[in-house]
Amino acid sequence: MVSVTRRETFSASHRLYNPVFSEEQNRAVFDKCANPNGHGHNYVLEVTVTGTPDPATGYVVDLKELKRIIRAEVTDKLDHRNLNMDVEFLRNVIPTAENIAVAIWRVLESKIPSGVLSCVRLRETENNVVEYRGGQ
Ligand code: NI
Repeated sequence: MVSVTRRETFSASHRLYNPVFSEEQNRAVFDKCANPNGHGHNYVLEVTVTGTPDPATGYVVDLKELKRIIRAEVTDKLDHRNLNMDVEFLRNVIPTAENIAVAIWRVLESKIPSGVLSCVRLRETENNVVEYRGGQ
């Protein structure tokens, strides 16, 4: 089995806030990420597909095709958006890096043309990165 990874980037704004919580709880849990008017990140997305290289092409997945799919299905829909308001596949989700990674997995999982989706890695800051590998 061989894993191949495509990197894409997008910039977006968000606010971490749970409407069920009081203002004090939101402040305690999310701190300045709960500031009312939001803030932005330059996200780095890495999508990993695992499989056996096709004997005819040597590819696990055609990276040109994977790039096209990631852009069309994910990053074109996230780039320069407000993640709390603008993105259909993030509706009713607190847009933490964790939740965004899981949502991206769900969008991409059925659209990978060969091999299987094995990791969605989302870097939100220089120091914070999350990975989702499917399952609970
Ligand atoms: Ni943030």
